[in-house]
Amino acid sequence: MALDLLGERQRTHYCGELRESHQGQTVFLAGWVARRRDLGSLVFLDLRDHTGVTQIVCNLEISPEAHEKAEQVRPEYVVGVEGEVVLRDPATVNPQIPTGKVEVQARKLLLLNESRTPPFPIEDEGRMAEETRLRYRYLDLRRSRMQQNIRLRHRASLTVREVLSRHRFVEIETPFLTRSTPEGARDYLVPSRVHHGHFYALPQSPQLFKQILMIGGFDRYFQIVRCFRDEDLRADRQPEFTQIDIEMAFPQRSVLFAIIEELMASLFALVDVQVSRPFPILSYDEAMERYGSDKPHTEFGLEWKRVNLPEGAQEKVRVSCPLKALRVPGWASTNRSQIDKLQETAQAAGADWFSAIKMSGAEPQSSLVKALGEDAVRQLASAAGAQPGDLVILLGLKPGQSAQGPQHRLDEASSEVRLELARKLDLLKSGGWHFLWVVDFPMFDYDDKENRFVAMHHPFTSPREEDLGMLETDPGGVKARAYDLVLNGSEIGGGSIRIHRPDIQRRVFSALGMTPEKARERFGFFLDALEYGTPPHGGIALGFDRIVGLMAGESNIREVIAFPKTASAVDVMCDAPSTVEPEQLEELGLEIKESPVEG
Ligand code: AMO
Repeated sequence: MALDLLGERQRTHYCGELRESHQGQTVFLAGWVARRRDLGSLVFLDLRDHTGVTQIVCNLEISPEAHEKAEQVRPEYVVGVEGEVVLRDPATVNPQIPTGKVEVQARKLLLLNESRTPPFPIEDEGRMAEETRLRYRYLDLRRSRMQQNIRLRHRASLTVREVLSRHRFVEIETPFLTRSTPEGARDYLVPSRVHHGHFYALPQSPQLFKQILMIGGFDRYFQIVRCFRDEDLRADRQPEFTQIDIEMAFPQRSVLFAIIEELMASLFALVDVQVSRPFPILSYDEAMERYGSDKPHTEFGLEWKRVNLPEGAQEKVRVSCPLKALRVPGWASTNRSQIDKLQETAQAAGADWFSAIKMSGAEPQSSLVKALGEDAVRQLASAAGAQPGDLVILLGLKPGQSAQGPQHRLDEASSEVRLELARKLDLLKSGGWHFLWVVDFPMFDYDDKENRFVAMHHPFTSPREEDLGMLETDPGGVKARAYDLVLNGSEIGGGSIRIHRPDIQRRVFSALGMTPEKARERFGFFLDALEYGTPPHGGIALGFDRIVGLMAGESNIREVIAFPKTASAVDVMCDAPSTVEPEQLEELGLEIKESPVEG
C-alpha cells in the first residue's frame, strides 16, 4: 500500500475535542483508526487519540481519493485527516461520546502507516492475559485505562514537585552507580569494566546520599527517584520502583508529618478525594496488639484482645498464654466449614493453636467446654467482650513459645484471620481513605536464622533518646524514632529521625553484630562524614507507584508503571534479563559458571 507523507501538516485539534461550536471549521486530525464501517459510497472511520474519538466520513462524492484510501485502512492504521467539521444528522448523533454530535467530512486522507492486526482489540477494556499485555505494552498503553493511569502519574509528580518546592525542598539527583545501601533486599550489581572484580550496586534507596546532603547544607531535599531491589515480587512490589524521597535538617516529627499530610491531600485532590487531616497516630505495639499488623486497616472493627486462660487450664489444652481473642459480632450461627477455613488460614500463617466459641444459646458452644468446663469458657468469651450471638476466635502458640519469633507468627496469623473475616463480611469495600501513622517501631528484630539482631527499618534510624542506655544491654527493648505511613492497609511510606552522632552510629552498628572493622569497610565514608558537623536530620520515602496505584483504584502497581516487570522480574517486551556476548564478559573479566536457563 502506498503511504503518504505528513509533510508540513500540523494537527489542529485532538480527536476528543471537537464540538458543535467547531461547525464549519477546517481541521486536521491525526491518530489511529479504531473502527471502520463501509457503507458503499460512505466509509466511516472512528479516529482515536488519547483524548477520545471523532467520526470521520469519507464520501465518494466529496473526495473520491479519500474514499478510496479509507477503503484500505484497518484498525490501528495511522491516518491524518483534513476536512470540515459538520453536524451529524440528528438520527445518527451518538450521546455516548463527547464528540457525538459532530463528524469530520474528509477532504484529504493521509495514510501515514499500516499496522499488523493487534493481538487484542484496543477498545476492549476486558481482562487480557497479563503476559500478552506486557509483551505488546505499546498497544496496551494505547488503551484508555493505561492512558489515564500514566497521565495521572504525571500530574501526581507535578503536584509532588509543586508542594515540596513550596516548602523549600530542593530536588537533587543522586547516583545510580553506587555502593550497596542496606534496605533489607538483595542488591542489583553492575560489574566494573575498568576495575575487574569490583561492582557498583544500584541503590535500594538514596538513604546515605540524602543524609550526606544534610551534612552538605541542603537542609530540605527531595527526589522522585528510581530504587532497585532484588526481592520477591508481589502486587505492590516491583524490582525497580519509584520513591518520593525526602530529607530535612533540624526536623520536628510533627512538622514533617504536617508536610506529608498536605502532600497527600494535594495528591488525592487530583482524584477528587478529600483527605481529612491530621492523620491518626498509632504505636507499633498497639497496632500489633489490636490488628496483628504494622500496616493495619483500622476503619472496620474486629480488634484482637489478649486473654488469659484460668489457672491450670493451659496444660489441659496445651497452649501458652496469653491467647489472642477476636469477637465477631453476630457470627455465632456461622457454619463449621467457615470456621475450618479460618483455622486453616490461622495455621498456615503460623498459629499453633486455634479454637472458637459460639455464643448462640444459653451455653457457650466450643470444643473447649469438655476440657475447661462451661464457666471457664464463658469467662474467656466475656474477656473477649463477647455478647450473645457472637463468635469468638482464639489463637495461641504451643507451650513455651514466648520469644519474639513465635510471637510474630501469632501476630501474623491474627492479621490474616482478621483480613479473611473482613473479606467474608464485606468490610473491605466500605470505601473511604484511611491514612494512619504507625510510630515507635522496635529498633531491632531478632533474626532466628542469622542468630543476631537486624535493623527493623535500616541501621541509620535513631533509637529513642530514652532508650540509648539499652543499646548494649537490651537491644530487643529499644524503640526507634521510625514511622510508617499506611493507607487502607497498605504501607505507602516509611522513614525516621536519623542518627546524627558518629558515636551512636558506631554503637548501633555494633548492636547489629558488625565489628568496627566491618563497619569501617562498609560505611567508613559515612562515619567520616558524620564527624564533620552533622545536623540533626530525618526524613521519609513514599512509595510513588503504590500511591498512584491507590489513587487510580488499581490493585496492582503494574497498572501505573509504563514498562513494569512480570512477577518473575522479566521484561517480556524486550526480553530482559538476557545473555550477553562472550566479548562483553571478557571485557568485564567475568565468567559464567553454568549456562543460564533459557526462557
Ligand atoms: P522503605 O524501604 O520503607 O524506606 O521504602 C519506602 C517506601 O517505598 C515503597 N516500596 C516499594 N514500592 C514498590 N516496590 C517495591 N519493591 C518497594 N519497596 C518499597 C513502600 C515503602 O513504604 N530509605 C528508606 C526511607 C527513609 O528512611 O527515609 C526506605 O527506602 O511504599
